[in-house]
Amino acid sequence: MFKFLLCCLCLCPLWVSAQTDAMTLAKEKACLGCHSVDQHTMSVPSYQKIAEKYRGDPGAVEYLSEKIRNGGKGVWGGGGRSLMPAFLNLSQSEIRLLVDWILSMKETPAS
Ligand code: HEC
Repeated sequence: MFKFLLCCLCLCPLWVSAQTDAMTLAKEKACLGCHSVDQHTMSVPSYQKIAEKYRGDPGAVEYLSEKIRNGGKGVWGGGGRSLMPAFLNLSQSEIRLLVDWILSMKETPAS
């Protein structure tokens, strides 16, 4: 784990800074007020679980971008009561940054 992080820090400074920007954005836009990176609940999916669910799905980027922009419900276990709000104030590139960030998450980092 430590080695993996070190590796990233040395080899991909650009990748790391993109991660940081997305994290800052997620905080600014209050995404992290509801979502946690790794604490999954029935009503609010963690970003790691979202990444797991859509990994390998070729339509994931488009689908999730649409979902962040327009909001939605009923996909995860909230019984239709847990709402993902619409974020009409996010730009295309901000949404893309967030989606890439979410989809890049792994529960156990590959080494
Ligand atoms: C008010 C709480 C809340 C906020 C704020 C919020 N979300 Fe969500 N989000 C949810 C809930 C609840 C769901 C699950 C909806 C469902 O079951 O369909 C969800 C689902 C998602 C999904 C998965 C959608 C799917 O169809 O599987 C993504 C991706 C996501 N949110 C990203 C974000 C991002 C990015 C932000 C910030 C711009 C954000 N969320 C802000 C509550 C929130």
